[in-house]
Amino acid sequence: MGANTTTIIADSRLGGQRWDRMIFGHFIEHFHTQIYGGLYEPGSPLADDRGFRTDVIEAMRELKAPVMRWPGGNYVSDHHWYEAVGPNRIPSYNKAWRVPEPNTFGTDEFIAWCKAVGCEPYICTNGGNGTAEEMSNWVEYCNGRYDTRYALQRQQNGNRKPFGVTYWGIGNESYGDWQIGAKTVAEWGPYVAESAKMMRAVDEDIILSAAAVPDTEWTLALLRAAGRYLDLISIHGYWDHTHQVNEPKDYLTCMMRAEEPGQMIERTRHVIGAAGFTDKVKIAFDEWNLRGWHHPDGTGQDKIDARDLNDLPETYTMADALFSASFLNACLRNANVVTMANVAPSVNTRGPIFAHRDGLVKRTTFHAMKLYVDHVRELMVPTDVAGPRLQHGARSVATVDAVVSKDGTGSTITLVNRDPVAAAECRIILDGQVLTGAWSAIILDGDSPDAFNSIDKPDAVAPRSVTMKDAAGSYSIPPHALCMLQIPA
Ligand code: AHR
Repeated sequence: MGANTTTIIADSRLGGQRWDRMIFGHFIEHFHTQIYGGLYEPGSPLADDRGFRTDVIEAMRELKAPVMRWPGGNYVSDHHWYEAVGPNRIPSYNKAWRVPEPNTFGTDEFIAWCKAVGCEPYICTNGGNGTAEEMSNWVEYCNGRYDTRYALQRQQNGNRKPFGVTYWGIGNESYGDWQIGAKTVAEWGPYVAESAKMMRAVDEDIILSAAAVPDTEWTLALLRAAGRYLDLISIHGYWDHTHQVNEPKDYLTCMMRAEEPGQMIERTRHVIGAAGFTDKVKIAFDEWNLRGWHHPDGTGQDKIDARDLNDLPETYTMADALFSASFLNACLRNANVVTMANVAPSVNTRGPIFAHRDGLVKRTTFHAMKLYVDHVRELMVPTDVAGPRLQHGARSVATVDAVVSKDGTGSTITLVNRDPVAAAECRIILDGQVLTGAWSAIILDGDSPDAFNSIDKPDAVAPRSVTMKDAAGSYSIPPHALCMLQIPA
């Protein structure tokens, strides 16, 4: 066994951790072309009579999307739900994104869209310039069962039955001065407690999150004041910071960040524990993406137009796919505390689906997510991974990242080889036995670390089925690859 071999020891005799499918969740925001010109395009030959793009719905179904968080994001810090329901929609100016908002896609449309996709709606309320009153009225509009003001309004808008929205969030990144109506540490906890109390007074069965951050000052104060009302705290991560300047980082620089999601989860777990809420409050990692969205500061049209740069196809390479795989591995490894995660966003900007006027492109991240959705099995098996590290400048990460899952029909060994040029040799020990023999596998690698899909070449990166056979007890994983190795029981 060479020094370059990674050893993966998975032992289901030590137990297994169930995980929540909500970690394959989604997020969509009223930002640039995510909603308008993305999933919603009335008049498009690709849209149904409600204006929903049917190709987007089909792609979301392929991803078996379990949940969709909406309407923001920063946007929600200046969104007032009552402006976007009913027959008379008046455009408003959204101060968070500094653009006009037509308000033609609102709560009724969002719920109908989630039904079409088959996912749970997760509504993030306005914790910026909104109020506890406004949030609880929104719960009444959606879930109210009596003939009371907002429930009646829903009925008059054509929805007799309550929407039954289970997942609700209070605020988005309310600690950040980029939010309209940002809060201080001292303000946030009491504000969340009051909002949660009023929302639960309308529907006590909702599952509720609040904006948090993996730091003790903000989140301890939040949990001490409001933890008793909460099921989840919401944290966000983007690792390639391109807000002001759209210069996406190269493959190796991105790979060096691939262990950071796990570190963020650990920090958050400790804060929850320090507040005494282990087992009561879980983590919703409800915005995540390797690359931050590009939206340079300013109100000029040039700044708005610059948002188009988010959709340059060459941005979304194997770096994005493998970072996403590493992120999902971190959630799966921490499945006892992370019970939801939402890729941000789903459609356009940095999303796995690029919807253009004539169709859509499945970016590399689409394929990575789909492999997880389709192949990770119901129990995470306790797994140790030991092997060489990939170096770049002063930083390093494990060359191979792996998780092992199992159900009654077999095991899936999920392997990520982050090395851009060299195959990784992997020795796999399952329940005490060295794995040998030929097994089916699905590999996503593309022909280079920088490979990407585009309108011209939509299938440059696509999963391929192979048979993998050991050589002297070790399996060779191609460079820059995600590999799902299937071992039947
Ligand atoms: O850059 C996009 C934004 O990222 C989302 O609106 C916000 O929640 C996060 O800061």
